[in-house]
Amino acid sequence: MKNISLYKTILPTPIYSFLRMIKRKWYAFVRRNGGKDWTDKIIMERDRISSEEHLSKITHKGDFVYSEKGFRVFNGHHNIFLGSNIYLVDSLLNAGDTVGKITIDDYVFFGTNVSILARAHNYNVFNLDRHQQITEKPIHIKEGAWIASGAIVLGGVTIGKHSVVGAGAVVASDVEDYAIVAGNPAKFIRFIEHK
Ligand SMILES: CC(C)(COP(=O)(O)OP(=O)(O)OC[C@H]1O[C@@H](n2cnc3c(N)ncnc32)[C@H](O)[C@@H]1OP(=O)(O)O)[C@@H](O)C(=O)NCCC(=O)NCCS
Repeated sequence: MKNISLYKTILPTPIYSFLRMIKRKWYAFVRRNGGKDWTDKIIMERDRISSEEHLSKITHKGDFVYSEKGFRVFNGHHNIFLGSNIYLVDSLLNAGDTVGKITIDDYVFFGTNVSILARAHNYNVFNLDRHQQITEKPIHIKEGAWIASGAIVLGGVTIGKHSVVGAGAVVASDVEDYAIVAGNPAKFIRFIEHK
């Protein structure tokens, strides 16, 4: 504030007003672009784009794939492979850049607030190295599986066809076809009868 008063005193009014206008426009521009400075802008890029944009950036996908407000891809739009008739609701998909592929087959659907996490961090190193060293493993969710609300699926897991992952489960190992699993870590409850 002190500086502004000083400038107001020493600058001719038209120049001072012009500079104030430039400053206002700059702040408005930065706010529109999502951050206080360019670093924030890059970090917040994934939050700035809408769930529709996140879905449209996934190019490998079939027909009738739906998401809702809140759906986002933390990383790896290019490494997500979606079949048809899939309902992703407001989930978070975090795919790797190489082997950490996320594959979701036809008729899979989620409850709210599901996380599919194919990436993690190398915990054998510390501080910034841990921030930066990413590990990744593939996730495959097979045909017709229902992943209920609040479930978390970790890297390296295959979820069998027509299986059910209970609300709030943390899935750390494979789920068999037609199985119901629940809990943290997700444990087998029973098989679903089928012909
Ligand atoms: C997984 C689910 C479908 C199983 O339903 P169910 O067949 O009626 O299961 P049951 O009530 O027979 O429970 C069987 C056992 O699993 C346990 N269990 C069931 N769901 C569980 C869950 N989400 N987390 C932890 N344990 C669970 C029960 O406590 C019970 O344990 P017990 O045998 O020791 O008593 C259901 O519990 C569930 O999670 N529904 C999801 C609801 C939801 O997210 N809805 C939003 C729309 S997607």
